[in-house]
Amino acid sequence: MGIGRGLVSKKRKSEPKRWDGNIEGLTLLGNGVSGAVFAIDENRVAKIDIGSPRSIKDIKTECMAYCNFSKGHPHVLLCLDIGNPNGLVFERCQDTVRSRLRSRYRCTPPRVEVAKKWAYQAAKGLAFVHECRVIQGDVGCHNMLLDSTDSVKLADFAGSSVNGSVATVGYEVRSRLPGADEPDEMTDLFALGSAMYEMATGKRPYEDKSAREVQTLYKRGRFPKLSEIPDLGRVIENCWQQRYGSAREVVDDLDNINSRQPQPSRLQEKPTKSPPDREAPSLYFHHGSTHRQKPRRYDPDTDRGKIYAYSSPIVLKSQ
Ligand SMILES: Nc1ncnc2c1ncn2[C@@H]1O[C@H](COP(=O)(O)OP(=O)(O)O)[C@@H](O)[C@H]1O
Ligand SMILES: [Mg+2]
Repeated sequence: MGIGRGLVSKKRKSEPKRWDGNIEGLTLLGNGVSGAVFAIDENRVAKIDIGSPRSIKDIKTECMAYCNFSKGHPHVLLCLDIGNPNGLVFERCQDTVRSRLRSRYRCTPPRVEVAKKWAYQAAKGLAFVHECRVIQGDVGCHNMLLDSTDSVKLADFAGSSVNGSVATVGYEVRSRLPGADEPDEMTDLFALGSAMYEMATGKRPYEDKSAREVQTLYKRGRFPKLSEIPDLGRVIENCWQQRYGSAREVVDDLDNINSRQPQPSRLQEKPTKSPPDREAPSLYFHHGSTHRQKPRRYDPDTDRGKIYAYSSPIVLKSQ
């Protein structure tokens, strides 16, 4: 009896008190259209709506996304109290990847190993997110956090597309796939390419150019030079040129690079495509379970071998 009571009180001591919704005295860490983020203590933050209809909706969306992420993933920010009526409670991180790049790597970009590690972790997190039927819709270094071990955690699913819902967020201009209206896996992967560029160079793509100039360049299929970025440069290019069918393929490619296997990936052998062209294909394919995934060009070289890997039937449509 005595021992039992001792155990209970010990357990209680180690578990923090549930956050009661009081924000008085809490430090504001971030504030946007979707919500406001406060530090509850050294391990937890609370994200709450700011009262506008948009913000109320976005926080509900983030809650739905976390219902889909119930298994959790080492590279997706951990939600500690999804049912708290006052707001979402998350693990507390140190910095966003972007703020780290600006504070520590303003003059010299991160070491190649650091950039590769972050890129790999971000791709793994994104593969999990997509497999949970969530399209983040605003992938970027501003929505990637670093925890106490400097591991990347994807964050901010307020405004994402969940189970096919319409996203309310949009990508930053340097992360936006030209010609795409609605976010989908392909647009998230394009933005992942831009995030990896920022990790590798410390700068956003075409940082010295205006948003309008960047849009024009992207529309013409012109992207920053990648020749000075070893290994990752090729992966970034593949993201920008939409050569990956899924985030899992990016993870596999990065796996090859990280394990220094000399074999070139199949993607490397493909000729470079000119400007992204989402309108001209005569034969499309998509698989039935992810109806939000936009049809993309069927590529006999890379897709033929994959058809049987999908769990649901491939639908081939002639235009
Ligand atoms: N778990 C966290 N730990 C530390 N800071 C955080 C955390 N979550 C968010 N922040 C800070 O709050 C900012 C806004 O959070 P975010 O979830 O991206 O909301 P918004 O939808 O307003 O963009 C982030 O850029 C970051 O600076
Ligand atoms: Mg954000």
